[in-house]
Amino acid sequence: MFSDIAPRYDLLNHMLSFNIDRGWRKALVQRLTPSLRLPGARVLDLCCGTGDVLLDLQTVAAKPVIGADFCHPMLLAAAGKARARGFAAPLFEADALELPLAANSLDAISIAFGFRNLVNYRAGLAECLRVLKPGGVLAILEFSHPPSLAMRAAYGFYSSVLLPLIGALVSGSSEAYKYLPESVKKFPQAEELRAMFEAEEFVNAGFELLTGGIAALHTGEKPFGLNRRSNA
Ligand SMILES: C[S@@+](CC[C@H](N)C(=O)[O-])C[C@H]1O[C@@H](n2cnc3c(N)ncnc32)[C@H](O)[C@@H]1O
Repeated sequence: MFSDIAPRYDLLNHMLSFNIDRGWRKALVQRLTPSLRLPGARVLDLCCGTGDVLLDLQTVAAKPVIGADFCHPMLLAAAGKARARGFAAPLFEADALELPLAANSLDAISIAFGFRNLVNYRAGLAECLRVLKPGGVLAILEFSHPPSLAMRAAYGFYSSVLLPLIGALVSGSSEAYKYLPESVKKFPQAEELRAMFEAEEFVNAGFELLTGGIAALHTGEKPFGLNRRSNA
């Protein structure tokens, strides 16, 4: 599904969100800026897709930001965009649930609009916790559920009627843009996701609702002195 939409992914992203996604990505970069500026920081943009977040993170990062995704055409698009900006992004193909990375090796992980697609959210959080260094930060930007009834109704109509129609017309894939609102509907409420972070032993777990709760930025930190899951 992601391979099918890769060529038109960026265009549709900005078009369907009226460019609001740019502000959401900016909030993610701001949250991770202290980690990005650490000397020798190792930061992973997981489910990096065509690399928009990776490229934004790179503008403040002290070291090259690493990107990973399990969809080859998405990675090719990300590599091309990085090259066009004059650098070679370190990218690798992997499933977010089984990262080929050593335990305690990253200062921060960002996941923008990828986490919702994982088949097991608790396993995804556990894998991030494993590869983060103690004190490392996980930031997940994802669609969420607007608390206001009026906003929920307006957004519900847009995302389940208009968005699949425009998405299918522009991308040529009716499946992907029908899947999007369906997957958002099934996605946990922000409060539930925060509880999952805590159940996986992240500390300082919290979230910020963006654009009336259409999206949310979730963050949590790996505690110091956590011994379980420390195998590579
Ligand atoms: C909606 S796109 C988001 C891409 C990018 N982060 C952005 O903000 O534009 C979701 C991405 O997650 C990737 N993805 C979904 N499930 C994955 C998994 N289990 N492991 C690795 N990548 C995954 C898809 O291939 C796709 O590129």
